[in-house]
Amino acid sequence: AQFVISAKDLEACPASSLPEFAFIGRSNVGKSSLINMLAAKKELAHTSSKPGKTQLINFFKINQAWHLVDLPGYGYAKLSKSKQQAFNRDISAYLTERTNLKHIFLLVDSQIEPQGGDLSFAEWLQQCGLSYSIIFTKTDRSSEIQVANHAQRFVEELEAWALQPTEIFYCSAKTKKGRGLLLQWIDRQLPKKPKKKPTNRLNLDWMQR
Ligand code: GTP
Ligand code: MG
Repeated sequence: AQFVISAKDLEACPASSLPEFAFIGRSNVGKSSLINMLAAKKELAHTSSKPGKTQLINFFKINQAWHLVDLPGYGYAKLSKSKQQAFNRDISAYLTERTNLKHIFLLVDSQIEPQGGDLSFAEWLQQCGLSYSIIFTKTDRSSEIQVANHAQRFVEELEAWALQPTEIFYCSAKTKKGRGLLLQWIDRQLPKKPKKKPTNRLNLDWMQR
């Protein structure tokens, strides 16, 4: 994983045809921590216990094959009205107009009851015709039963809102839960690598045996 650039808006995003996967969710839900866990690099994306840490669109290149994008969180109450409007404009432009954006992961805190803000965001993604999945974060912080309970309630709400995310993942940045499944899933969305061409060089290794 390598850091590429921090962009303030769509225009400042790097010209690239690499498939892109973006991570969004409420401020403090654990986006940057999840990205560090996926990349197995502690300080790649900046994290903080205070909400509102990530303010720009941050691009990371993974295996020279795809871009992982860390987005600022929504619902950060301390943001001024004008900053919130700028956020809405810039992030919605990125999400709806970035041509190489393949999939959006909407992060939802597994510790809490379903939140209207998360459901509205999922609804907006679906209305825009964007492909998205849900990731429940911080699963290490509650009992398995509680996580399952919150997740089930959230899924029921999704159904009530007629929302159909592609996949649902359960992750913890602390225990690395979900890392393998999520990376494998992303890998399956990438264009197939061309198979190695058979070599037409004569192999005379057997002569040396
Ligand atoms: P903004 O950039 O402010 O929108 O926040 P963010 O969504 O990027 O959250 P961030 O990764 O900075 O994490 C917020 C806080 O939650 C930090 O104190 C993290 O250490 C903590 N945290 C994130 N993920 C986990 C997790 O899986 N388990 C536990 N126990 N703590 C977590
Ligand atoms: Mg962040």
